[in-house]
Amino acid sequence: MRFLPLLALSTLVAAAQSAPDAATMERGKAVYSRTCIACHLPTGLGLPPVFPPLAGSEWIAKGASIAVRNITNGMMGPVTVKGVTYNSVMPPVSGVTDKDIADVVTYVNNSWGNTGPTVTEAEVTAIKQKYADRKTMWTAAEYEKEAKESK
Ligand code: HEC
Repeated sequence: MRFLPLLALSTLVAAAQSAPDAATMERGKAVYSRTCIACHLPTGLGLPPVFPPLAGSEWIAKGASIAVRNITNGMMGPVTVKGVTYNSVMPPVSGVTDKDIADVVTYVNNSWGNTGPTVTEAEVTAIKQKYADRKTMWTAAEYEKEAKESK
């Protein structure tokens, strides 16, 4: 009997790590086509050296918080993605609900060879609340500093 809760837990963990369902991916693709595609392109490859790729991006691999914060407040300044340095501006993305953000980040996490977690609406809401006081665009330097501090 002692093993049952453990078994249930590992099943839950496995479910959380499995690929998102088709409906989520469809919704995410629709949000992507409306809000990201103009710059990051249908292939997720962007347009170096103007728009960085999301396919194979090390910033996507760092977790959902960066994408959620970029969407909410934008991002500017130098950022190196897959060996190419960009120094541009991503404006905040308007007209998206927390659910839309969860779906689009899940879509990006699991497209073009990327394999990442399914992001929930609750996670997006929590990230936005954590940084609710933030009024300016994010920078790669800040994201890097955080990563160092959490080590
Ligand atoms: C108007 C063009 C534009 C749109 C629309 C846009 N981005 Fe960006 N994005 C950029 C630029 C430019 C950068 C690099 C900013 C810099 O130089 O600091 C960037 C950076 C990023 C990064 C970090 C770097 C990387 O390549 O991984 C992520 C993640 C990202 N965008 C996700 C998204 C998502 C998801 C959407 C749609 C919800 C989106 N962007 C919409 C232009 C855009």
